[in-house]
Amino acid sequence: MHTGLLHTHSLLRYFVLIMLVVVVVIALQKWLGKKPYTGLDNKLGLYLFIFTHLQLLIGLVLYFVSPVVQFNAGTMKNAGLRYWAVEHISLNIIAIVLITLARITSKKMADDNAKHKRMFLFNALALLVIIVSLSMSGRGIIHSSLF
Ligand code: HEM
Repeated sequence: MHTGLLHTHSLLRYFVLIMLVVVVVIALQKWLGKKPYTGLDNKLGLYLFIFTHLQLLIGLVLYFVSPVVQFNAGTMKNAGLRYWAVEHISLNIIAIVLITLARITSKKMADDNAKHKRMFLFNALALLVIIVSLSMSGRGIIHSSLF
């Protein structure tokens, strides 16, 4: 079960990162170019939202079955153990909250330019947080420990 979940979580990371980059770049272009917020923008935001929440669900299960998540007297003193027990989950949940807030709050906005601005700022921040989190993992941002 652990290997299957880790494969899925590892693979889904590319979908999350690609969708985040696509949404951030389009939102910035349309915000600066004062372009309308279209059905395509809404769909891309929805896919990002779905991939991210799927990643959260799988991550939560992994958290309880993974051998790298350990709680003992030495966890906080060991950078590797502390990363998987505390830092990976905390940083990525912050990123997921930002992605969720970007979608929920921008949907309520009437002004298209304000929507693009919100989508850009919150998702760009989330992207930064995920990049920082993955670069701290010792496994790299792009590299997977499985292949
Ligand atoms: C968008 C958010 C997230 C991304 C991009 C992400 C990405 C990753 C990546 C790339 C790995 C390493 C996979 C490998 O070695 O091949 C990993 C491992 C892991 N993730 Fe996440 N993750 C996210 C959110 C979460 C969350 C919210 C949790 C917990 C609730 C979580 C729990 C874990 C655990 C426990 C592992 C280690 C599994 C193991 O090696 O046994 N992840 N994650």
